[in-house]
Amino acid sequence: MTERAEAVRRIGIRRDPADAPALRAALGDADPAARAMACRALGWQRDPRLAPDLIGALTDPEPDVRDHAVRALGVCLGGRSTPPAAAAALIDALADPDPIVRASAARTCGWLEVDGARPALRARLSDDDSGPVRAEAAHALGRLGDAQSTPALLAALGAPHAGLRHHAARALGLLDADALAHLKPCLADPDAEVRVAALRVVARLADDPGPIAAALRDPNPGVRATAAILAADSSIPDAALAEALAAEPHPEARHHLVRALIRRGERSGAPDPPDPRSPAMPDPADPAAFGPTGDPSHRRSAPAAERNRGPIADVLADRLPPGPVLEIAAGSGTHTAFFAHRFPDHVWLPTDLDPDALASIEGWRAAAAAEGRPLDNVRPAQRLDVCADVWPVESAGAVFCANMIHIAPWAATPGLMSGAARILTPGGRLFLYGPFRFDGRFTAPSNARFDGWLKAQDPRFGVRDLGEVSAVAAERGLARIEVIAMPANNHVIVFERR
Ligand SMILES: C[S@@+](CC[C@H](N)C(=O)[O-])C[C@H]1O[C@@H](n2cnc3c(N)ncnc32)[C@H](O)[C@@H]1O
Repeated sequence: MTERAEAVRRIGIRRDPADAPALRAALGDADPAARAMACRALGWQRDPRLAPDLIGALTDPEPDVRDHAVRALGVCLGGRSTPPAAAAALIDALADPDPIVRASAARTCGWLEVDGARPALRARLSDDDSGPVRAEAAHALGRLGDAQSTPALLAALGAPHAGLRHHAARALGLLDADALAHLKPCLADPDAEVRVAALRVVARLADDPGPIAAALRDPNPGVRATAAILAADSSIPDAALAEALAAEPHPEARHHLVRALIRRGERSGAPDPPDPRSPAMPDPADPAAFGPTGDPSHRRSAPAAERNRGPIADVLADRLPPGPVLEIAAGSGTHTAFFAHRFPDHVWLPTDLDPDALASIEGWRAAAAAEGRPLDNVRPAQRLDVCADVWPVESAGAVFCANMIHIAPWAATPGLMSGAARILTPGGRLFLYGPFRFDGRFTAPSNARFDGWLKAQDPRFGVRDLGEVSAVAAERGLARIEVIAMPANNHVIVFERR
């Protein structure tokens, strides 16, 4: 980063409305890096009155400045109605000579639901020579519910770019298009993400459990886990699910098969199936560090994370302080990739204890780069055991940790709180996501059953009591400031470093 850009960044991270004039002035700086940073910093203010300044920056000669101006418009206007001048500027940006700007414009048009962008997005989907731009256009048209784009989306299912096939399949699902015959071949797509997207839609449209049963034998565990989720409401016999469970080596796919059988048991009044044993947690003392890195084929899908990442991102959107975000127990990297795209102005530092998880996170980074939309704001995945006295990160504005403290011995909770308190800057926040007990009581019968299942995996695991977790945090200078109820009886707990 240039010195002038760094100076603008320092002003920007204060998020003080009184700094807006200085940031506006920086849009005219001779240094393009400073101008790009000024766009980002204006976005951080989240003030729609700054949209005209960002619209002005869309005529900047530097593509990087225009790209940041587009993204900052999305940040400023997210959750609000888009003023006509901003909609028109974003539609113009869809024709920008630079494909990165066009891709950002397509993503922002979808995110802000710019209705008037439909014709231009259709044109990008059909004619753009960049696969990532076409993929973003497909995604946006799905979000906009644009039925007119169905023929182009069907054609995109055969495109060479995996990201485009994936987004086209998802968009067709959102549009409820009559696409069954076209989507069935995608169940054999070489890319696992495309198979997952196609399976979801086919399972809903087809009156046949065959595709789900076949996907339970897919070589990719993410596809099998998705099939397990869908199997719960299918007509696949219980015996076939039990057989799949017996053969399933991957913990997450096993988890969803068990849940499917439990749901069926609830409906029929039969007792719960016996809990399976899954491989033990990795030994925190194991010195193994990184797994093989940077190979897209190591990327794993986590269907639960795919479902909860949107609602979690909505919680983070208004609450993330400036500064790098340290992600603890990032697992597959599904959250990492999604949040990094959603919060382009935050540097994301993914970590996990498990070398396979690190390889999967690196797989997401490599796949994103190969698809032409690199996760520039994601640093290489690092091994981090929350129980260690020294963490590989010295300072962060926020720590995010989903679904770890109940799937680890209790020592992980004080470990997490001690480490977060060490590295968070004052005012920094820890976001903790997962199921909790309140005053010793479960919030739902499903959480009580989940607790039993966890303890069957390892008696040291279990759904934690929020009071106990908060007490451990408070002892270390982390004040609980918010408890937010989430779908599926989960919560986000926000702690702040005093
Ligand atoms: C259920 S996964 C959650 C993954 C991801 N956060 C999500 O919500 O999809 C639990 C993760 O916690 C990690 N983990 C367990 N003990 C840990 C520890 N002591 N330090 C860091 N990570 C740990 C595991 O390796 C695993 O990836």
